Amino acid sequence: MNIQANPSPNFLKAHNARHLWHPMGDPKVSEADPPLIVARGEGVYVYDADGKKYLDCVAALWNVNVGHNRPELQRAMIEQIDQLAYYASFMGTTNPPAIALSALLMEMLVPENMARVLFSSGGSDANETAFKLARQYWKIEGQPERTKIIALKNGYHGVHFGGMSATGTGPHRRTYEPLVPGFFHVESPYLYRNPWTDDHEELGRICAAELDRAIQFQGPDTVAAFIAEPIQGAGGVIVPPENYWPLVRQVCDKHGVLLIADEVVTGFGRTGAMFGSRGWGVKPDIMSLAKGINSGYVPLGATVVNERVASAWQKPHPLAGIFHGYTYTGHPLACAVALANLRIVQEEDLPANAAKVGDYFQQRLRELADRQPLIGDVRGRGLMLAIELVKDRKTREPFAPTDPIGKKLVEGARARGMIMRFTSGKIIISPPLIFTKAHVDEAIGILSETLAAAASEATAA
Ligand SMILES: Cc1ncc(COP(=O)(O)O)c(C=O)c1O
Repeated sequence: MNIQANPSPNFLKAHNARHLWHPMGDPKVSEADPPLIVARGEGVYVYDADGKKYLDCVAALWNVNVGHNRPELQRAMIEQIDQLAYYASFMGTTNPPAIALSALLMEMLVPENMARVLFSSGGSDANETAFKLARQYWKIEGQPERTKIIALKNGYHGVHFGGMSATGTGPHRRTYEPLVPGFFHVESPYLYRNPWTDDHEELGRICAAELDRAIQFQGPDTVAAFIAEPIQGAGGVIVPPENYWPLVRQVCDKHGVLLIADEVVTGFGRTGAMFGSRGWGVKPDIMSLAKGINSGYVPLGATVVNERVASAWQKPHPLAGIFHGYTYTGHPLACAVALANLRIVQEEDLPANAAKVGDYFQQRLRELADRQPLIGDVRGRGLMLAIELVKDRKTREPFAPTDPIGKKLVEGARARGMIMRFTSGKIIISPPLIFTKAHVDEAIGILSETLAAAASEATAA
């Protein structure tokens, strides 16, 4: 068997998970129950090693926004490889795709008054860059004590030490403690589960006031930045009330604190606006971008900063250099694919499609909720949706984290030809942004059957 050239399906199945550790999973589980081997993709569908077809209702990991195996992106890769597969951006060198992409991003981010970009290899990298630039900004500005970062409970900001310390979900933090000092958390505006109110506006005011108090408690002259996702993704698609982000911007301005929007998932159309924060009419100071920037075809992250932040680096200060960067910063292949990808996002107006098809998806999910008591809440914006399952709709009693229902649902959907994600009691739906209403109908059919089967098993048990 020639492993390098052509591993057969039988070889792949025999070796599946024998040597590979998978992110965010228990190796014992993946040994006993090996992962699906996704071998080919086309549009909104992928195929496993045996050729079985699946509707990709998660766009791999919220990121394959233009769909799988787009010829435009394949061509961009080949054309770039023909010229230059890789060169570094350190040591006074750069490359044409990185320059062109920086110009395109600044053009797309004119409404946010963004001025500079520093590339990296993914979302975790982009957030590390954001934290480092925020701290550095205050040192250059003569306020070196402004080092603290405030984040939201339930937020997800990646797996490096900074992002993990900003992350507000239990196991991601606890397993790797001690975390980086100087990261603090406030409540997220989680309408379905909060101790205060069912009123959107009131919740927005309460949560923004909590941020205000947290900054005052820490001492505003010690706080560098507040970071949040415009819509919390991995935490369960928590859509803040309309007034929340504008109030957060006001609180940050009142105390001079930088506002970092983690747009790793929400950037480039997923929420129905080109950028998630734009949907709330809010201009962050720093934005972390990745995933949809090039639909995940080649790893890429980007951290963009506005004029206010960038202007500090114009000062004659010993620390006003960039003392940060990755070997793959400005990777020409990743940037070339991003240019082709963003052309599709703009020409096909994928944010508008996400808004239109997302509304339809949500409407169909609400119809499903009317006849399926397992569904406690349906929420989302654009093609970023979640269904929160409950044992009892009246009391909103959640399923225990150890309950097998999630596994059953994911497997049931796969058996019926659809990939979806289940995390902490929620089904997450984040398909490619090229989804049509017909794809939604296909997904609803599979979801409805899968939930009905799980519900009858739960009743029988
Ligand atoms: C909001 C957010 N930030 C950061 C990250 C980390 O990105 P990556 O996995 O590319 O490092 C993720 C990943 O899902 C994310 O959802």
